[in-house]
Amino acid sequence: MKILVTGGTGFIGSHTVVELLNQNHEVVIIDNLCNSSKTVVKNLEKITNKKVPFFNIDIRNKKALEELCSESKFDCCIHFAGLKAVGESCQKPLEYYDNNINGTLVLLEVLNKYNCHNLIFSSSATVYGNPKSNPIDETFPKGTCTNPYGWTKSMIEQILIDLHTANPDWNIALLRYFNPIGAHKSGLIGENPNGVPNNLMPYITQVAVGMRKELSVFGNDYDTPDGTGVRDYIHVVDLAKGHVKALKVIEKKQGLKIYNLGTGHGYSVMQVIKTFEKVNNVKIPYQIKPRRSGDIAACYANAQKAFKELGWKAENTLEDMCRDSYNWEIHKKN
Ligand code: NAD
Ligand code: WQD
Repeated sequence: MKILVTGGTGFIGSHTVVELLNQNHEVVIIDNLCNSSKTVVKNLEKITNKKVPFFNIDIRNKKALEELCSESKFDCCIHFAGLKAVGESCQKPLEYYDNNINGTLVLLEVLNKYNCHNLIFSSSATVYGNPKSNPIDETFPKGTCTNPYGWTKSMIEQILIDLHTANPDWNIALLRYFNPIGAHKSGLIGENPNGVPNNLMPYITQVAVGMRKELSVFGNDYDTPDGTGVRDYIHVVDLAKGHVKALKVIEKKQGLKIYNLGTGHGYSVMQVIKTFEKVNNVKIPYQIKPRRSGDIAACYANAQKAFKELGWKAENTLEDMCRDSYNWEIHKKN
């Protein structure tokens, strides 16, 4: 298939481009580089030994998108482009709603005009809000989000559901990611957060290489086995492979489908720290701090639907994730 990848130089997009090229799909990346860099394209070419067409385009730029889509006929769009920092979204809600929602609307309008009615969308487990129990399956109701970022995901899902209802020619996979971490084994691509990381694993890797003094563990009084928060961490390469498998929804014209992409296992913050220390033989100093506002105690997937319908399941262990995250941090530093 010829696939338009928005946000393809970002963390998850770049890993997905590798897996798409490995399966001989044709890929065109667009990204405005607001949270990634052009060097990712070079590194993708090194990893895959293939040319990777890249265009610096903002998805809100209708004219530029129209030019691209009128010249190339895309079979499918995998839509990663978006802003994703939870804290920042509370400071700058209008920027998040404009970039994520308006951006998606412009993209959909152009795809529609050029007869590309196939889309895979990066959604998030955040749309479940605070679930009534774990593991979470796709029949769980969407919940109340605690930040504008989360609402953009929830609202875009609704937009896509309405679009499919109005025009069943659309085939759409809504993929709800749990907590992606890890990096490509080559150490050439990985997550590159700006400033102080919000997420657990990039913070741990920065402590591991001495960039930061210690990790703050946000709360040890949750109703979880050791009191610290429990999440479903998934290796980004497994997540990327999930997108290739989700192309089945497009190939078989299955309409709108929703899948959790997680491992099905929950690990606590303390388990992540201990595993990281063990596999990388490095100490992670930490201090217990109060709970972080908006956090929930536990969140992990029932990933059976993706296994049964797409034949996908995550293969990498928490050990692999810790090893590959550290390897990426070391490469980034040198
Ligand atoms: P990322 O920031 O690394 O990648 C997103 C890419 O989109 C970046 O390269 C950025 O430059 C680009 N971008 C942003 N706005 C754009 C615009 N208007 N036009 C063109 N390009 C634009 O983030 P990621 O972790 O790779 O996340 C990819 C997608 O998955 C996002 O939509 C994110 O919300 C979603 N998601 C991420 C996580 C996570 O924990 N990383 C979890 C669930 C869902
Ligand atoms: C994981 C656990 C923290 C940092 C966020 C978004 C979500 C999704 C993924 C996009 C929690 C604890 C963290 C630290 C800590 N993104 N923690 N010290 O909050 O599950 O999800 O990223 O869709 O929408 O909300 O991930 O990595 O921030 O936190 O103790 O310095 O680690 O309290 O229990 P989270 P996270």
